[in-house]
Order: sequence, then C-alpha cells, then structure tokens
Amino acid sequence: MHVTVSEFLETGDIMIIPLFQDTEKAPNNSTIGLSRSASIAVKSAISSDGFDGKEKCQISIWTKECQIILLGVGDKNKLTPKKSRDFGAKCFSNLPNNQGRNVVIRFTAGWNNQNMASFAEGMILRDYSFDKYQKKKDEKNDSEWSIICQTTKRYTKDLDLEINRLSSIATGVHLARDLGNEPANRLYPEEFGRRALEWSKGKENVEVEVWNFSRLKEEGMNGLIEVGKGSVHKPCMVFFRLNPTTETNKQVPCIVGKGITFDSGGISIKGSAGMDEMKLDMHGSATVFGLFQALHATGYKGRVNGITCMAENMPSAEAYRPGDVIDTYSGKTIEVLNTDAEGRNVLADGLWKASELNPSYIIDLATLTGSIVVALGHEATGLFSNDDSLSGRIKKAGDEVDEICWPMPLLPAFEKQMTSSKIADVRNQGKGRWGGAIQAAGFLKQFVQEREGENGEKSQIPWAHLDIAGTAGIWGGESNATVSHGATGIQVRTLHRLITSK
Ligand code: BES
Ligand code: MN
Ligand code: ZN
Repeated sequence: MHVTVSEFLETGDIMIIPLFQDTEKAPNNSTIGLSRSASIAVKSAISSDGFDGKEKCQISIWTKECQIILLGVGDKNKLTPKKSRDFGAKCFSNLPNNQGRNVVIRFTAGWNNQNMASFAEGMILRDYSFDKYQKKKDEKNDSEWSIICQTTKRYTKDLDLEINRLSSIATGVHLARDLGNEPANRLYPEEFGRRALEWSKGKENVEVEVWNFSRLKEEGMNGLIEVGKGSVHKPCMVFFRLNPTTETNKQVPCIVGKGITFDSGGISIKGSAGMDEMKLDMHGSATVFGLFQALHATGYKGRVNGITCMAENMPSAEAYRPGDVIDTYSGKTIEVLNTDAEGRNVLADGLWKASELNPSYIIDLATLTGSIVVALGHEATGLFSNDDSLSGRIKKAGDEVDEICWPMPLLPAFEKQMTSSKIADVRNQGKGRWGGAIQAAGFLKQFVQEREGENGEKSQIPWAHLDIAGTAGIWGGESNATVSHGATGIQVRTLHRLITSK
C-alpha cells in the first residue's frame, strides 16, 4: 500500500467520504472534482433519510467516474484514534476488489490530524495477507493499493509526516506477522538467525550476531540447549543491536523474545488438536525482530538491544526429559517436571544474558502459558513486572496504540512454588493448575539479576514480562479489526511507542 496526502483534488477509482452523525448537508469539500450529476447524487444521499452518519451506516453511490462510499463514523465528539483506526481497518477490508486500486479518502469538516492518521494506519495495518504459499494467487488481484488522504492545505504537511511514521512502524508489524505465520518446516531457529543477518545487511546502524549450537555449548547456555537439542534443527541465540556505537555509557533497554519455532511439547507431548498453532510459539522473537525493523525504519537514534532465544521443542531420543536437571547460564539449576514448560527454560538464559548488558530495563515477550488465555482471552496481553513505574509506562504505551497490556500480580506464593524443588534451585512447573501464568512469571523472575543501586543497596533490574499467548494469533475463523487470520504482530507498536516516547 502506498499512502499519500493531498488537498481535495483527484477523485480516484473509489472515493470514501467518512461522515459524522447528523451531517445534513454535504460538506463543501466533499464534491470537489466530481461531475455535476455525481455531485448531486452525493448531496442528495447525504441529505436523505437513508444516511444518518451513524456507525455502520454505509451507502455506495455508483457514478461514471468512481464508486463513492459514504461511511458513517458516528458522534464527532466520541471519535478516538482507536475508533478511527478500526474504521480505517474495517473500511479497507470491505473495499471492492474489482473497482481499481486508487482510493481517495476525503476527510472533511471535523477531522483532526490524529484521527486522520489513525484511520490511515488502520488501513495500512489491515493490508496484509500471508499468501506466499498459495500457488493460485495469480488469479487474485494483488497489485498495490494507492491511498490518497485528502484534507485542507493547512493539515497536509503534518499529516503526511505522521502517516509516514506510522507506515514505517507498520513494516515492523508486518514483518513480525510474516515470521509468526511462517510454518515450522520453513522457519526453524537457524533460518530465523539467517533472516536476521540478511536483514541487517546494508543497514549501517544495526548489528546482528547469531550464536549457533556450538557457541551456546561454549557459553553454557544449557536452558536453550536442553530445550532445543531434541530437534534436528538446533537452537541458537540471536542478538539485535540498534545504534551499537552511540550512548555506550548510558543504560539502554533490552528486549528478549521466546522463540520456539515449534512447540510439540517435547516428551510431555501435547494433544493433536490445534497443535499446528504452535508454529506461532516464536512470536515473542518475531515481535523483537519486528520492533527492530520499526525502530530502524523510523530512524530512531538511541541504542537498543534485543535477544531472541530460538529452539524447536521436539520429542526424540535426544530430547530432554521430565526429571532432568539443567545447569542454566545463570548457574542456577532447573528441575524439569514438564518438557512442555519450555519457554521459561530458554528465557532463563535469555534474561540472564540480558542482565549482563546492564540494561535500563528488560522486557521479555513470550507466548508462555495457556493460563493467560484463560484469564484474559484474546483481548489483552498479561503484564507482569517487578517495577511499578516500568509497568505503568508499558500499560500507557499499550493503551495509546490499542494493544492492551493488563497488569497481573507477581504473587509471592506462586514464586515460592517455583523455588521449592526438592533437588534443584527452581522447578519449571508449579504445584497445580491454578495461577499458571503467575507461576511462569515467578519462575522467570529468578533469572533477572540484581545490581547495586546508587544507595549501595542491591535490587533487581527493572523487568517486565509480557505473556502474549492469547494475543499473538487469531485462529478458527475469528478476526479482529486489524488482523483477519494468523499472527498479529502484537506489541511491536507498543514497544516502539514506549522506547521512542520521552
Ligand atoms: N507455548 C505454550 C503456551 C501456549 C498455549 C501458547 C496456547 C499459545 C497458546 C507453552 O509452552 C506451554 O506449553 N505451556 C504450558 C505450561 C505447563 C506445561 C506448565 C501450558 O500453559 O499449559
Ligand atoms: Mn510448551
Ligand atoms: Zn511454548
């Protein structure tokens, strides 16, 4: 999709006029450039009883020059960026496929820049499909959409800048979706690393480093090794560095992703229903990769680190087993009670490594537990944190871009379950079903290092854990405004917002 901004000039193949409730007379700008008969048709439709501008009220007018869609967007005072984004997304998903690809959107009276930009953003985010494996796609019209957002002259410059910024961020969202949707036979740990290296080529201010299986062994990253060694596709750790040579004496964020390219459960194997969805168990890492793309594309000047823990969790003669004890990178040992609780094992090494970078804060993203899906459904990501200020900032950033992060408690009782192994330092499964997402978070907390503060007291590095198991994908015929199926690219926009806003 190519989005441009202009004054009210062209009419396009399809013209969309979003109108507020109780618009009784066609706004002046709405009919510029239309023939007399088309103008009359628009004016009379707007004044007619058939169009009231309420949400969901939509009228199509066919004229010789273009198809005109009057789109009701409800009460002017109730329009928010979120609603506007959803209108844009829905509007895009309903566009006719056979009327040409030039779309004009006429934002007339009552539209401010933020709402216009969000409308465009909704269209951009929704313009996505994962059809690279559909051989028959030639029959579909997949040529690029051209969208012209029309507004009055005094708005055009700022709107253009903002839409450019939002579409740059969207390239990161779409990249994260591409990675999330990629099947596990095509995207395995080393392939993820290869794509990250390829992505970094030619980008001067980014650096990608991949630690392969033998390097992981040298480093003692046994959390990652044990989970991944049962697969023919061996595990790896991928480091993303943006602007690595700037701000080197300043603490900067480190974002860590769970990257299980397929989670069969391992020896504690899962049931077959829905197992295909576990190709998405690397979405935490997909979000990290997408975030770096978004930060790079928007020209962010600060330094940021990312770490993705890539492994495939498979049962085999070489696989790790229930009862095993792992020597993790941190030096702490894990008693494996369930090989399907693998995400936390790989993150144990990722979080410890992140701590070594002395970051300002650590955020991990993981499709970690079924339990968070029980708690929050597909509506919100579970947000756990040892730092109220960091948690508050993440929540705020999420609200601003409409990717809700819902605060969850790190209850000490669950943490205690995880540290009460009879034979090791921590156990990878709690003592029952209840509070499974909190148990998992309590486990992860054991692998965030403490450091000495200015007052000489030791405290843990500010850390937040985002359990995205319910928000990373949409399956089974469901859809939301900005995604029709599959990986959502969740939290790329939130983290971009968090990192880039001061
Ligand atoms: N990848 C799964 C969690 C998951 C579930 C992600 C549904 C997306 C949708 C994770 O590795 C897992 O298997 N978790 C177990 C942990 C349990 C064995 C302690 C779970 O939640 O059941
Ligand atoms: Mn699992
Ligand atoms: Zn998993």
